[in-house]
Amino acid sequence: MEEMIKELEVKLHAIREKDGEKRSESQHKKGKLTAWERIDLLLDKDSFTEINPFVTTRVTDFGMDKKRVPGDAVITGFGRINGRKVFLFSQDFTQLGGSLGEMHAQKIVRIQDMALKNGCPLIQMNDSGGARIQEGILSLNGYGMIFRRNSLASGIIPQLSLILGPSAGGAVYSSGLSDFVFMVRGVSRMYITGPDVIKRVAGEEIGHEELGGADVHAQVSGVAHFACDSEEGCFEAVRRLLSYLPSNANEEPPYVTSDQDLSPDDAINSLIPIDPEESYDVHEVIDHIFDQGSFLEIHEEYAMNAVVGLARLYGYVVGVVANQPEFMAGVLDINASDKIARFVRFCDCFNIPLINLIDTPGYLPGSTQEFDGIIRHGAKVLYAYSEATVPKIVLIMRKAYGGAYIALCSRDMAYDRVLAYPCADIAVMGVEGAVGIIFRKEIAAADDPEKRLQELKAQYLEKFGGPYLSASYGLVDQIIVPARTRLELFKALDSVMEKQETRPKKKHGNIPL
Ligand code: HXC
Repeated sequence: MEEMIKELEVKLHAIREKDGEKRSESQHKKGKLTAWERIDLLLDKDSFTEINPFVTTRVTDFGMDKKRVPGDAVITGFGRINGRKVFLFSQDFTQLGGSLGEMHAQKIVRIQDMALKNGCPLIQMNDSGGARIQEGILSLNGYGMIFRRNSLASGIIPQLSLILGPSAGGAVYSSGLSDFVFMVRGVSRMYITGPDVIKRVAGEEIGHEELGGADVHAQVSGVAHFACDSEEGCFEAVRRLLSYLPSNANEEPPYVTSDQDLSPDDAINSLIPIDPEESYDVHEVIDHIFDQGSFLEIHEEYAMNAVVGLARLYGYVVGVVANQPEFMAGVLDINASDKIARFVRFCDCFNIPLINLIDTPGYLPGSTQEFDGIIRHGAKVLYAYSEATVPKIVLIMRKAYGGAYIALCSRDMAYDRVLAYPCADIAVMGVEGAVGIIFRKEIAAADDPEKRLQELKAQYLEKFGGPYLSASYGLVDQIIVPARTRLELFKALDSVMEKQETRPKKKHGNIPL
């Protein structure tokens, strides 16, 4: 037995250490960590158990018989993050470019199945040249199996993708199917075809970073939810995100005892300017309302007219959706609609109550938005909120106009509680537009059109301005003093925390995509 144990140790050592120094040097030269270093940094100390380290490719074509590596360029296993079990894989770019062949895929599939069966988050660490070209259709077959599992696990366990090197070709879609994509500036590249292919096919010249770097996907495409400055920062962000999430859809998000009280905060009284044209940064409001330092923004640099993220309210995890008056006046456009709808659906999957902070002039008008499908994209917001059964609470802070009112604040969308500040303005549209349409002829015919315009605006505001008419119809439940927001939102949350809402049985809905 002793000999056998020695043999096992030698074999395992060979797998983990083969050309170890050379391999880590080649990663470090590229400014990247090795697959093992990543696991060590991400997980709780000594918590990792590797699965299937001996798995090796069976393919022999194109010299693969001489390139075989035990483990087949991916490390798979499970470990713990802040004490909670997670399953993961970490691709090893130093072996065959981390490319995905038949057995590499089998290892990932096994981890996906284990994560799903055990109801644990799945973490994918990608550093790969994509489908292993020498393995042909077996590689594509492998991706197919992975994508299907990503899709079937969606909404049951959280899936997080960390792009820690190239993620080219097929590799991008497993991440594209995940709940959250993390990228690292200068390290991550994500594209379905790289610059060389683009040059050949389209004659376009573009660099790797400009085409698929972290900033591009965090700011322009919206593929990345988090852009980090270093791999270490990325692991920290993953650990932080997981601290808000349940391990699976049958669990509640983790509650922590809050040491922050719910006493009035007078500063909130002056955070929202009364003048509807005046902008302000909604982050300040968020910071005052939710437990200090608890707001974790998602998609921070994408569609900044909407702000979404996870926070805690008196220790309870909530999903926050807010308009950002400081950016495009907080209007809802295509990208903001996609961002909000996706976030709402995530929260609904994982039992995270939603709190909306509303100040928006509505959906963005314009031919570009119309041509690009604002109707289809805007409908996603309506669909996502209608479908959601988690507690839904809204605070109308200032403007809530038109379609955006319906989508984000209305009783008809089955919001559980609708609160409003005294300066809330709920209407089909802003006073300027409304008066201009319904009194156009009367204003034009007046002896003094400007005077008449001002009179009619005053009449309109008297009738429709403020939250009181809506409150009289029962469409606003409560008008609150801003300073008491924390307490009132918590009471609203507390009142609906145990709500049960069922839906008619169906195969699945057909959200406008
Ligand atoms: C096999 C691969 C590979 C691949 C890289 N390698 N990609 N081997 N299949 N897909 C190997 C290289 O041959 C090399 O082996 C080693 O990995 C390191 O690669 P380098 O090119 O030296 O590294 P680097 O200069 O850092 O460039 C990284 C890269 C580049 C940008 C990722 O390798 C690249 O462009 N690879 C191809 C990317 C791609 O087009 N993938 C799409 C595949 S098709 P040696 O032995 O020399 O060290 C696909 C379709 C699926 O994925 C669609 C499903 C929806």
